[in-house]
Amino acid sequence: MKIKPDWVLPNLREAQKRTHQPIQTLDSFQIDETMQFLGSGKTYYLSTFGCQANERDSETLAGILDAMGFASAPDEEHADVILLNTCAIRQNAEEKVLGEVGSLKRLYRENPDLVIGVCGCMAQEEKLTNILLEKYPQVRLIFGTHNLQELPSMLYDVMMNHKRVVKVYSKEGEVYENLPVHRFGKHKAWVNIMYGCDKFCTYCIVPYTRGKQRSRTKDRILAEVRQLKAEGYKEITLLGQNVNAYGKDLQADYSFADLLAETAQIGIPRIRFMTSHPWDFSDAMIDTIAAYDNIMPAVHLPLQSGDNEILKQMGRRYTKESYLELFDTMKARIPNVAISTDIIVGFPNETDEQFEHTLDVVRYCKFDNAYTFIFSARPGTPAARMADAVDHETKQKRLQTLNTLWNRFALEKNKQYEGKVVQVLTDGASKRNADVWSGYTDTNKLVNFTGTGIHTGDFVNVQIETAKTFSLDGKAVL
Ligand code: SAH
Ligand code: SF4
Ligand code: F3S
Repeated sequence: MKIKPDWVLPNLREAQKRTHQPIQTLDSFQIDETMQFLGSGKTYYLSTFGCQANERDSETLAGILDAMGFASAPDEEHADVILLNTCAIRQNAEEKVLGEVGSLKRLYRENPDLVIGVCGCMAQEEKLTNILLEKYPQVRLIFGTHNLQELPSMLYDVMMNHKRVVKVYSKEGEVYENLPVHRFGKHKAWVNIMYGCDKFCTYCIVPYTRGKQRSRTKDRILAEVRQLKAEGYKEITLLGQNVNAYGKDLQADYSFADLLAETAQIGIPRIRFMTSHPWDFSDAMIDTIAAYDNIMPAVHLPLQSGDNEILKQMGRRYTKESYLELFDTMKARIPNVAISTDIIVGFPNETDEQFEHTLDVVRYCKFDNAYTFIFSARPGTPAARMADAVDHETKQKRLQTLNTLWNRFALEKNKQYEGKVVQVLTDGASKRNADVWSGYTDTNKLVNFTGTGIHTGDFVNVQIETAKTFSLDGKAVL
């Protein structure tokens, strides 16, 4: 691979640096005249991996592509531009992307004008970008999480100047507020309240791929929520890697609890937020969630581990005891609250006993839902440098034990819904059976139900008949 002078390559060491430079909010995005019609008669296909931050970024990319005259294609086969918005959280997330890029080679062979681009968190890693540059000549465009706003000029260079464009900034830039957005949902919407993360949990790549924490101003956020209300949205999710820390980087005395309350007053029927770090979950937040009916009683509270020594090595800054105290307070003060979690097994040198401590917490908390992972060493992070004596088979067994346990409690929890009537926000009809609908309860339980005269986006009362581990079955009632 010959590195071109105008390429900007990622550098994780640079990405780790934090400065106190204030972040500016800009409204200066515009598409150059020469690029406004670049997409006329052409189509795009977006493939999104990873978390909701990426989903929301893809809505911005789609908004920009629409503004350039592109139309959206139903699949990759019919697209002139294919963008893969990628995730770097675990190695298997990256392997999935490389697999997909590999399978696109056939389309590129058939159509050498096809633009295949890779963006998102994976592009922020030097190792992965180098692999793409060396082994995947079909990838003509690589850009990162900090320069979505440059998509028009980057695409112009690829399409009109036939360049291979690589532009990955390691340092976060300004916050662009006036980027166009093409929302994929008609009744549920994502609202970014902050970007980046400064927590630097020792296993995690996000602070490197997403840059330092930058909160949006409350005025911008509330204006967006009002707009969504006016457009008829029924549910919004406030997004951030750690929403509890909202505003701590701004010079205003305004916390996430304040933002939640003001958002609730706007009157969108359902408000959710994610993710909350147990560390700065305040009492005021608990009171606010309890006080407003339209703030959903569902909290995602990642535990990661139930062992104090492992938690310390993870840099999580709470203990099993303080986690449980927070858990108990929430259960006591927020009526009917559902609490879900994330857990990592097989952190370097985790012993059987330490893993048992995690199981103890799961037995106590009986989580409503859990996302469980085997530790994956992320290049450049402190945990990746730790020697690890535990073999993969042991880790896989632990994951299985953990899953069997939490699944049992989840089923037990779901059984309590049998015979009850719950309110469901309808997401749509089943692909296999048009008479079966699905949606979520306030507590974030997936419900499949039968009924007539139902539309996507309707609130429907559903009588639950059968509980399963991951969903509830029922029928619509008047
Ligand atoms: N900001 C969120 C987490 C975002 S990443 C929080 O702090 O809660 C989502 C989940 O992926 C994490 O909660 C963690 O459980 C998991 N995860 C992150 N890095 C990982 C790694 N290196 N290996 C395995 N799982 C990881
Ligand atoms: Fe990663 Fe920790 Fe930040 Fe969550 S809080 S994104 S786990 S560093
Ligand atoms: Fe993945 Fe980046 Fe989100 S690493 S989980 S897409 S912030």
